[in-house]
Amino acid sequence: TGASFTPLLGVDRAKASPAAAAAAIPELFTVPMPQMPVLRPTLRTTTTDYYDVTTRRVRKEILPGIQTDLLTYDGNFPGATIKARSGRTVVVRQHNELDVATSSHLHGASVTQANDGDPMDTLAPGGVRAYTYPNRQPHASLWYHDHAHHMESENVYRGLHGSYLLTDAVEDKLPLPKGEYDVVIAIRDAHFDAAGQLVYVMDDQQRSTLLVNGAPYPYFQVAARKYRLRLANMSNQRFLGLRLADGSEIVQIGSDGGLLPRPHTTDTLTLSPGERIDAVVDFSRYKVGEKVVLENTIIFAGSAEQVGQVMRFDVVRTAADSSAVPAVLRSLPALPTPTNERTVVMKMEEGVAHPKGFMDGKVYDPARVDASIRFGASEVWTVTNANARVPHNFHMHLVQFRVLERNGKPPAPGEAGLKDTVIVAAGETVKLQATFDSYRGSYVYHCHMLDHSAMGMMATMKIS
Ligand code: C2O
Ligand code: CU
Repeated sequence: TGASFTPLLGVDRAKASPAAAAAAIPELFTVPMPQMPVLRPTLRTTTTDYYDVTTRRVRKEILPGIQTDLLTYDGNFPGATIKARSGRTVVVRQHNELDVATSSHLHGASVTQANDGDPMDTLAPGGVRAYTYPNRQPHASLWYHDHAHHMESENVYRGLHGSYLLTDAVEDKLPLPKGEYDVVIAIRDAHFDAAGQLVYVMDDQQRSTLLVNGAPYPYFQVAARKYRLRLANMSNQRFLGLRLADGSEIVQIGSDGGLLPRPHTTDTLTLSPGERIDAVVDFSRYKVGEKVVLENTIIFAGSAEQVGQVMRFDVVRTAADSSAVPAVLRSLPALPTPTNERTVVMKMEEGVAHPKGFMDGKVYDPARVDASIRFGASEVWTVTNANARVPHNFHMHLVQFRVLERNGKPPAPGEAGLKDTVIVAAGETVKLQATFDSYRGSYVYHCHMLDHSAMGMMATMKIS
């Protein structure tokens, strides 16, 4: 998608030599990629699936032979995948066994304010709280993560993140790869110390290790056929430019808010923190025994390396394949005529020890309403990144929006579908349209580089 993107700040040491970053980081492609478990409901009724999830601290092996302290949902890292269906309600009862407050947010979902996981609406240690997700929205690859005020960045970094796959009849009818050939690939950055523990420092430029489904630079054994890959960037700060090392084609079929109207064939997928891309890769172009590395083309500015690595696909067998990517995937409703326009300026302080993040010149104050929106309005927001070097992205709760323009030009095909998070690289301006016709209430919008939102780059919109 965004070819105009300029690299992030910092140094990526893992690419030059993973072993050099911390003694315990394994050689590339020596550990298998874990498949995320699917969460099992506690109870199913005719209308609703109930789940019980406990946030707790565990020690778990991420780096071979080392136990790393993590904050987890049920001891899983990342959290188990929740599978939901449009029209069926999901209730997740969160039990907080941590010593810090949590707030569970379902990113990309349309939910009432009380169920949104607002930064200030937290669950105290020892508490239990039910979050209700009505799933009155089309299919989408969503994800859930912590959102407790000022703690979201550290809590997510230490492990409180997982996938939530919402499906519907539109998706059912398509012959896309399914079952074991439909795979979550959640990528995130991490900084390990020499003892193999996660280091959390605000705006850390040394989160130089990439974990895929919780494993460092893994390999994944695939059959020589098509796979649907549910790629998600769950990093705090890192942007990803994903490409197969041989440059072969990747078919993007979806973005944050579900399938694109039509597939988009490309060789590189750009994902900023919080974004998701659904892609189909046809491994039948390889012979059994061949291996292909998934690279990251967006490297930190200080790195000597030109191209990083993420994981490797090892083609180990053949398999029948009746799946296909149809030329038309879905239709999106026409955009309504906008009823209001507003601007948002994102800016981070630069060159100071403890930078603040600003939305329209202001640090996040949960007591303040920054945007008052009329229920039912369809608004065009012009979002500008006023930094010359620091990239941002822009995420709104409650809605899936449409990107109208990037720097005055129509969006690339990969970001022309439904989005909830969009890159706004240094100096860029993105125009988007969102319609507020689902719920009234207060919801946040923010930069999804979570250190930036924790530094204040977040604001409140009130729909009434
Ligand atoms: Cu991913 Cu405010 O959220
Ligand atoms: Cu930012």
